Amino acid sequence: MKIVRTAEALREARKELKGSIGFVPTMGALHEGHLSLIRRAREENAHLIVSIFVNPTQFLEGEDLESYPRREEADSKICQLAGTDILFMPSVDQMYEADELCIGAPARRGYILEGEKRPGHFDGMLQIVMKLLNLSGATRAYFGKKDAQQLVLITQMARSYFLPCDIVPCDIVRDEKGLALSSRNAYLTDTEKERALALSRSLKRASKKVMAGELNVEAIVAEMASVLEAAVDHTEYIAIVDRDFRKLERVEIGNTIVLVAAWVGKTRLIDNIWI
Ligand code: PAJ
Repeated sequence: MKIVRTAEALREARKELKGSIGFVPTMGALHEGHLSLIRRAREENAHLIVSIFVNPTQFLEGEDLESYPRREEADSKICQLAGTDILFMPSVDQMYEADELCIGAPARRGYILEGEKRPGHFDGMLQIVMKLLNLSGATRAYFGKKDAQQLVLITQMARSYFLPCDIVPCDIVRDEKGLALSSRNAYLTDTEKERALALSRSLKRASKKVMAGELNVEAIVAEMASVLEAAVDHTEYIAIVDRDFRKLERVEIGNTIVLVAAWVGKTRLIDNIWI
């Protein structure tokens, strides 16, 4: 495995790769969720590039940019064992210049739910993903459904900017109790981890209700709210939307995403289920 830290070195290193390139962009503190993307990219392509970069432009003022977990050594080992050809770990200076050209998230999809609670977050996320996709020369790039809105926006960017790269959606990986894996779970104490299970429990409750024939969004949201309120400190949103992030009144089976965002202690968590 080659570790490269500059844009130039990545360009050089990837010139030597012949055949398809699978690419997995991450912010590090790798867990089984990231690994599921990495394994799939490894299987489906001749070569594998992974990036680790805690991207400052997608963090808002007052968010956890400084405290975001950084575990370069352990992450490198994980990438090496997973058969990575090139691990890209650039500095901020390598990725950004002064007076940047910016990409704006779309007015509707980009400014509801996560985009409403974290205004500017998706602009910064799209900006770095565009840079990373171009630099990696990826044939296919792998993203988790865990960040559903992010995945939909990246898919839109690839489509509307005619990027020569397939965006591959990957299923959410959970721990044995149902908690969706996230680098931010590292912030949770044991009791907070127990309370955080309410997110996945509320989503399971939603899918159970749908399976039992309840398609009315209002009724499902009310039940989810009661599951969440009993355990979390603050529910930011519960939303039931179609795959294009339009609000639904009735669940459309095969075209629905149920999403939640909630605070447990000082940690903000998101989760969702595709129905
Ligand atoms: P990060 O949070 O490190 O996540 C990297 C990728 O792993 C994303 O595509 C995310 O959806 C996926 N992922 C995280 N947890 C997962 C889980 N439990 N199951 C399945 N996939 C999971 O998302 C980012 O970084 C950044 O925004 C990035 C795209 C790298 C741009 O900076």
